[in-house]
Amino acid sequence: MKTYRIAPSILSADFARLGQEVQSVIAAGADWIHFDVMDNHYVPNLTFGPMVCQALKPHAKTPDGRAVPIDVHLMVQPVDALAAAFADAGADLISFHPDASSHVHRSVQAIQSKGCKVGLVFNPAESMDVLDWVIEEIDLILIMSVNPGFGGQSFIDSALRKIEQARKRIDACGRDIRLEVDGGIKVDNIRRVADAGADTFVAGSAIFGKPDYASVIKAMRKELAHG
Ligand code: DX5
Ligand code: ZN
Repeated sequence: MKTYRIAPSILSADFARLGQEVQSVIAAGADWIHFDVMDNHYVPNLTFGPMVCQALKPHAKTPDGRAVPIDVHLMVQPVDALAAAFADAGADLISFHPDASSHVHRSVQAIQSKGCKVGLVFNPAESMDVLDWVIEEIDLILIMSVNPGFGGQSFIDSALRKIEQARKRIDACGRDIRLEVDGGIKVDNIRRVADAGADTFVAGSAIFGKPDYASVIKAMRKELAHG
């Protein structure tokens, strides 16, 4: 039985109450907290830095005190210095876009040397060829099903083919690599995304845009259980 994970993106949370929002969405059943880090250079938007991660780290706990992984998605260029700063700020997983790094293998090693799990993120038109040379080193593949920079966009269907290809690569290499999808994930399409091979789902506006986070997460898990 596959373990599915739901990773709400705080990009769509109330930025005036981020601590409470993290606690609420965890109490509502979130498995990971997804941090969409944007630098207004690699993507045309600006969000938050390592200090916000540090401030939120104590809030990333279940009601009974269990730590909830902070899943940092770096939409930044260059990668290495910010990745190290997020590792120091408490990130558990750090994913970056290979096209934003001049030395992908070195960036992977730098993140691992800080004790964090490392992922690569692929934009809708980005090839996954780099996996030929680093798939044995990484813990996570993140497929973008929207163009990075904003929440609330529509799911790009071609991502389904890319998820299928990524699933084949993961199964062929026989390592426990999570396959995460980010962008336009809703209750009414999460099953289709899981059927393509994803096991971890980023959702921002689908969850934070609703008054009752628990009912949305429950509805998503119900869809995932139908597989
Ligand atoms: C894009 C962001 C969004 C966000 C999810 O750069 O990474 O994909 O996490 O946003 P929704 O779930 O609202 O599409
Ligand atoms: Zn993201």
